[in-house]
Amino acid sequence: SLRAGRSDSVGLLVLDVTNPFFAEVARGVEDTAGEAGLAVVLLNSAEQAGRQRRAIRLLAEQRAAGAVVMPVDGDTADLLWLRKQGVPGVLLDRGDVSADIACSVAVDNHAGGLAAGRHLVNLGHERVTYLSGPADLEQCRTRLAGLRAALEESGLDPDASVRVIETEQLNAESGEKAVEEVLAGGPRKRPQAVFCSNDQLALGVLKGLGERGLSAPADLSVVGYDDVATAGLVHPGLTTVAQPKYDLGAAAMRLLLSELNDPDHTHERLRFAPELVVRGSTAAVR
Ligand code: RIB
Repeated sequence: SLRAGRSDSVGLLVLDVTNPFFAEVARGVEDTAGEAGLAVVLLNSAEQAGRQRRAIRLLAEQRAAGAVVMPVDGDTADLLWLRKQGVPGVLLDRGDVSADIACSVAVDNHAGGLAAGRHLVNLGHERVTYLSGPADLEQCRTRLAGLRAALEESGLDPDASVRVIETEQLNAESGEKAVEEVLAGGPRKRPQAVFCSNDQLALGVLKGLGERGLSAPADLSVVGYDDVATAGLVHPGLTTVAQPKYDLGAAAMRLLLSELNDPDHTHERLRFAPELVVRGSTAAVR
């Protein structure tokens, strides 16, 4: 078998172990691996290329049976290197790779931005701030493109309607910090809505608004991305674009098992659809 001489563990490389998005993905990976008698070794790059490189080398040295990799900056070079060492690897969430080379699993980011944008347009919002993560993240740019397309199809000029604020990271602290800039210019220039490229940012925005005596949706609407469990626990609940987190992990692991065990395996490029979840943080413009 392909696994001869290999350990019974597979590596899972996540981007931020403190973000519940990755915990839910990990659960899907682990359940599926467990059914096949494999243990999952969790590795956290913390979005740092150097940490990712070291983690990938470790998996090769330890002769891991395989790996599921969520790559820093969507860069697939380390995954491809690992495959060259004879460790099959599946790409998950970020980046892209041709199905000639490896399996990949991701969600349609443009569709997610479009769904959020249409929701905001339907509520009458014409001044939207997009809280991007780091602008060099392709996913964040694609979600923005979806938002812009939604405004455009309803006759608005995205250049005039959308303001983009970059944040250093995709975490709550960055979201909280960004509120000052979101509100700059005073009540009349304030956006009617803030669309955040993940829920951690959005939850930070809700906190930052609260610290200033403001709230969603009374003062402005707030939309997140991912639908982590916390999004439904805060009050008001966070409107967000849900990603099928558990299914992403389970699907990536199933493809890896197929590559390990099925002599007829062919690589797949799986793409899931996101889904808008409307909660209390968005409302019609008054
Ligand atoms: O919350 C983490 C974000 O970065 C998610 O939207 C996910 O898709 C990841 O790449």
